[in-house]
Amino acid sequence: MIGIFDSGLGGLSVLRAIHGMLPGHDLLYLADSAYCPYGPRARAEVQARSLACGRWLVSRGAAVVVIACNTATSAAADLLRAELPVPVVGMEPGLKPAIAATRSGRVAVLATSGTLQGERFASLVERFAGGAQISTVACPDLVAYVEAGDLAGPQARAAVGGYMAPLRAQGVDTIVLGCTHFPFLRHLIADSAGPETVIIDTGHAVAAQVARVVSSIGDGPGRRDLRCVTTGDPAEVAGPLARVWGRPLPLAHIDV
Ligand code: DGL
Repeated sequence: MIGIFDSGLGGLSVLRAIHGMLPGHDLLYLADSAYCPYGPRARAEVQARSLACGRWLVSRGAAVVVIACNTATSAAADLLRAELPVPVVGMEPGLKPAIAATRSGRVAVLATSGTLQGERFASLVERFAGGAQISTVACPDLVAYVEAGDLAGPQARAAVGGYMAPLRAQGVDTIVLGCTHFPFLRHLIADSAGPETVIIDTGHAVAAQVARVVSSIGDGPGRRDLRCVTTGDPAEVAGPLARVWGRPLPLAHIDV
C-alpha cells in the first residue's frame, strides 16, 4: 500500500497522478484537515504533524510514504527519512523545468510562506535560477478556496486574478505551482495569466518517482483500494473532497 498525506485536500492532485500511473495499487490518503493550513505554521509544528502522519500511515501498512505537500517536504522530509522504516518520497517546486521553459527569463513561484522561506527553496534558487528573475508569491487564500471546494467561483477567480495581474505586468511567462492545492485552480490561473504562459506542476514527476520506488522495493499491485481519512470532521470534508476529486471517495475520521 502507498500512503500519501498533505495538510488537507491539495495532495489529491498528487494522488490523482499516482492513481493514474499505478491504478492497481492500494492507495491511502491522509488529509490532516484539523491542522490545515501548514503554510503559516512554525517549522517545528509542521515537522511534528508530518511525523505523526507518516507514522500513522506506516502503522496501517504503507510500504512507501509520499509527502504530497511542498511545505511539509521543506520542513520534514529529512526527519521522516531518518525516522520512518520505509522509503519517503517528497516534492519541491519545479523551478528547474521552469528555468528550462522560460523565454522572458521571468518566472513566478506560487507556494506557501513556509516553502518560500525554507532552506530547500533557497538552495533550489541557488542551483537552478541562473540569470532568471524569480518572483515568489505566497497565496494562503488560494489554499482556503481549495479546502472549501470552491474551484471556480467568482471570489476564487478574483483572488487568482489579483495575483496574476502584477506577474503579467512584470513579463512573467512561466508559473510554478509550488503548492499541491494550486493544480486545482490551474484553469483560473491559466485564464488569468494568458495562453502564452507555461504552468509547471510536479505531480506527475512525483508519481513517476513513486513508481520507481515501488518497483525497486517489489511492492506489487493490491486490490485497487482507494481510501481517504481525515483528522477533521468527515461531514465537513466530504463535500469539498468530492468537488476537488470529481466524485465522492470513501472517507473516515482518524485521530493522529
Ligand atoms: N498543499 C501544501 C503544499 O504543497 C500546503 C498548503 C497549506 O497547508 O498551507 O505546500
